[in-house]
Amino acid sequence: MPLVPMRQILDEAAKKGYGVPHFNVNNMEQAQAIMRGAEEVKSPVIMAASKGALKYSDMLFLRNIMNACIERYPKLPVALHLDHGTSVEICKTAIDLGFSSVMMDGSLQEDGKTPRDYDSNIQITREVVNFAHPLGVTVEGELGCLGGIEDGVGSGKEKLTDPYQVKEFVEKTKVDALAVAIGTSHGAYKFKIKPDPDKNLLAMDIIKKIHKLCPDLHMVMHGSSSVPQELIAQINKYGGAIPETYGVPLWAIQEGIKAGVRKVNVDTDLRLAVTATIRKYFKEHPEEFDPRKYLEPSREAMKQIIMERFIKFGSAGHAFDYEPISLEDMKKFYKNE
Ligand code: G3H
Ligand code: 13P
Ligand code: ZN
Repeated sequence: MPLVPMRQILDEAAKKGYGVPHFNVNNMEQAQAIMRGAEEVKSPVIMAASKGALKYSDMLFLRNIMNACIERYPKLPVALHLDHGTSVEICKTAIDLGFSSVMMDGSLQEDGKTPRDYDSNIQITREVVNFAHPLGVTVEGELGCLGGIEDGVGSGKEKLTDPYQVKEFVEKTKVDALAVAIGTSHGAYKFKIKPDPDKNLLAMDIIKKIHKLCPDLHMVMHGSSSVPQELIAQINKYGGAIPETYGVPLWAIQEGIKAGVRKVNVDTDLRLAVTATIRKYFKEHPEEFDPRKYLEPSREAMKQIIMERFIKFGSAGHAFDYEPISLEDMKKFYKNE
């Protein structure tokens, strides 16, 4: 303990009106950066692995790194989450590995690219819930597909979440949290022009509408890296070639949190922090070859981003507000569903 169900972390966040960052992990340094950052600012943790991360790490290695986080930091509430599961099988695999939460991304077919229709999304998501809830495991669903509004990249405007479908989707699937598509996209290339608070960067009206229609729903914002300009500049200064690009500003995320967003997914920013640090290190220490020499500062750079997100999203200081519950407790909670 305490591996906690993600549902508890989100329920507690909703009570006090803050958001919790979800950080993706692929290796030990990322996991340590998250835990060290969380300990320093006293935040609950949502640590996520994608299908790609499980493949990269041969599953067993990442599972044991994540378990080491729980063992090493026994007081911090930690949810282990599968990111973008695209089949019932991968969700079952994650649950077998000991994850306390899974995302069934039924917005897409198993290839992770082709949009899936609404009824089929309900059906497959419900199937995962039927399997996960009796084990006390949290389920996140997705309605609508991520994509850009501003430049038409990705799935585009027509795949944004329809707020009027949300209530029925949640009632029929019984998901604990729902990823909504409001114009964000994954990766570093989100917006080509600098986000302007006076222009509609994201479809915040969708989040506000959903919150009005379903005030108890925990919404999730994917594709929420902020793409810090100083990291892009550092990468490019030391040999990188990243074109002008902007992410989701922290003020936009904070606006979403005020309107019911409880989980904010961040992966790219940590990748940028590692790359920026290593590029600089290589340039300044061409004679060095011990990986620990550059992985140590890159871990520290990630930790700084992580702590800033805990603070800005509001979860800092809340790790010890509540008594962690177990998956066994959650089984009872779901019993009468
Ligand atoms: O959803 C996207 C996350 O950033 C995970 O990315 O599939 O490359 O591990 P990945
Ligand atoms: P970013 O690529 O913006 O970090 O988004 C990550 C994400 O949504 C993971 O599910
Ligand atoms: Zn995502």
